Amino acid sequence: VKELSLRPQNFNQYIGQSKAKENLNIFIQAAKERNEPLDHVLLYGPPGLGKTTLANIIANEMGAGFKVTSGPTIERAGDLAAILSSLQPFDVLFIDEIHRLNRTVEEILYPALEDFSLDIMLGKGPGAQSVRIDIPPFTLVGATTRAGALSSPLRDRFGIISRLEFYNEYDLIDIITRTAEILEVDIALDGAKEIACRSRGTPRIANRILKRIRDIAQIKGKGVIDVGIAKSGLELLEIDEHGLDNADRMVLKTMVDVYDGGPVGLDSVAATINEESTTIEDVIEPFLLQIGMINRTPRGRVVTEKGYNHIR
Ligand code: ADE
Repeated sequence: VKELSLRPQNFNQYIGQSKAKENLNIFIQAAKERNEPLDHVLLYGPPGLGKTTLANIIANEMGAGFKVTSGPTIERAGDLAAILSSLQPFDVLFIDEIHRLNRTVEEILYPALEDFSLDIMLGKGPGAQSVRIDIPPFTLVGATTRAGALSSPLRDRFGIISRLEFYNEYDLIDIITRTAEILEVDIALDGAKEIACRSRGTPRIANRILKRIRDIAQIKGKGVIDVGIAKSGLELLEIDEHGLDNADRMVLKTMVDVYDGGPVGLDSVAATINEESTTIEDVIEPFLLQIGMINRTPRGRVVTEKGYNHIR
């Protein structure tokens, strides 16, 4: 139950992402005043920045219901048709990993998004007929780690496209402090700061580290998370001063030791360290780029001087 309340329920509780929040808030107020559903929303950005949380908040702020599914879960056109026809008016339908919808499912979605209708084929061959049925007006909130992976007809059907950014240190400190309060653990400001600096700009990581350090404080300390406990906890978790974990360092090290610092394709790095290339592309690379340890060039990725210095 406590875990559930970790997620902020409305814009007031949601820390950071001020641009996205401000815009969405205006669009939501306007839609409500007109008594219309909110336009379809695409949220994109690296994992763990709060896309699902924001989708839930959109539903709450609209005073609408919230349904969750994901691209890979919806296998057949009929699966999506069943979901769409069971919606209540103004419901928010959240489709996570929307770039992984298959072609036939995507085509069912187009008339649903545009006209709130479903085109259903009855039968096959010369006797086949298509019937059109109405579905309730609804809002699709789609989430993806890469907007570029969406087909352009799908992307074009979102009226609101919002990119989530990595969080700054101050926002992360606020998030960690808020979570600590909910978890009823005492944390000193310097403890929160230490965790914030090493969370890769990502609330999901900050909260995960906080929970593990809470365990350490409880068993090895006096229950309070100060900077000393935080530091020793982060060392146990093998998270370094920049927030890099073993997987991140492995990518950097491989690029230097095996590929001479690049340019190298991510697929080659993935093959060398036996890691999924999508994990490298969606999770590991964005942060290494953000902190300037690697660069993108037309011929592949290269390690920067900062990257070299870090693993030397
Ligand atoms: N927990 C995780 N992300 C959060 C955010 N953006 N604001 C408040 N609490 C959070």
